[in-house]
Amino acid sequence: MKGIILAGGSGSRLHPVTRALSKQLMPIYDKPMIYYPLAVQMLAGIREILVISTPHDLPLFKRLLGSGVDFGVQLDYAEQAHPNGLAEAFIIGREFVGADSVCLVLGDNVFHGHGLAKLLQKEVDHLNGATLFGYQVKDPQRYGVAVFDSAGALSAVEEKPAQPKSSLAITGLYMYDNEVVDVAARMQPSARGELEITEVNNHYIRRNKAKLIDLGRGMAWLDTGTHDSLMEAAQFVQVLENRTGVQIACLEEIAWRMGYIDDVQLLASADKLGKSTYGEYVKALALAAAKETT
Ligand code: DAU
Repeated sequence: MKGIILAGGSGSRLHPVTRALSKQLMPIYDKPMIYYPLAVQMLAGIREILVISTPHDLPLFKRLLGSGVDFGVQLDYAEQAHPNGLAEAFIIGREFVGADSVCLVLGDNVFHGHGLAKLLQKEVDHLNGATLFGYQVKDPQRYGVAVFDSAGALSAVEEKPAQPKSSLAITGLYMYDNEVVDVAARMQPSARGELEITEVNNHYIRRNKAKLIDLGRGMAWLDTGTHDSLMEAAQFVQVLENRTGVQIACLEEIAWRMGYIDDVQLLASADKLGKSTYGEYVKALALAAAKETT
């Protein structure tokens, strides 16, 4: 399975903070926002990943993440000239996806919880059509929302409905078989002028080829759409990291634990990162690993 991280858009809901700098480069506590969705792709076992952003911001993502070699993954980059909608990712990424299946993660979505990696890997292995991930929220009208029939089966997704029919939001993490590139290619812009991911999802639902996983209350899906929610997401990461001494979305650690990089590469990364708390954390991991092998 290939991965796409969509990290474009105008970020207008966070102006003036995002007027000069992409939203997905804003920090969530101690690391840039895009680290979190990239961590999700890596935990799912996906190692070929396309980062899509605006022509203005793409060079900054390249500067931040490079070829991916430090994280044991291969990163490609592509521009989205205008924010024409989430489903455009599959048009832009068509060649990159090739004949493969694909996992799309929105660059501003943060997921955290015990068992996430296993859950994602299982879904990658058993994909049949589309897999969507739902999360209960108290303000579903801000998201794509799951609709269920009388038997409790997923019957549709409604985009930002004024009267939501459930409180299960469809998160910005989607897995699709290769048909998605053709579905996206045939789409027409919606009334608000976007190629809607919700339309893609309804295509799969109508064909009985969509599975919805409720992430459940043990998992955290954090919002970064407003100044307050961005601050809360940072506090969430701060509280957990300070309490446990374990980092959330430390890409070098994930790469090492997943076997994408070895002890030597981990130590080399730590040396490059320098004296930040993030760098010190990677350094401590690398030194512990070196000690274990001697
Ligand atoms: O976060 C989950 C939600 O994401 C889903 O529940 C909704 O169904 C889905 O439509 C989307 O809703 P948003 O209101 O968050 O969409 P927004 O237009 O804000 O775009 C989400 C992110 O994707 C945002 O960081 C900007 C980026 N983006 C957006 C568009 C429209 C792009 O990179 N390119 C685009 O063309």
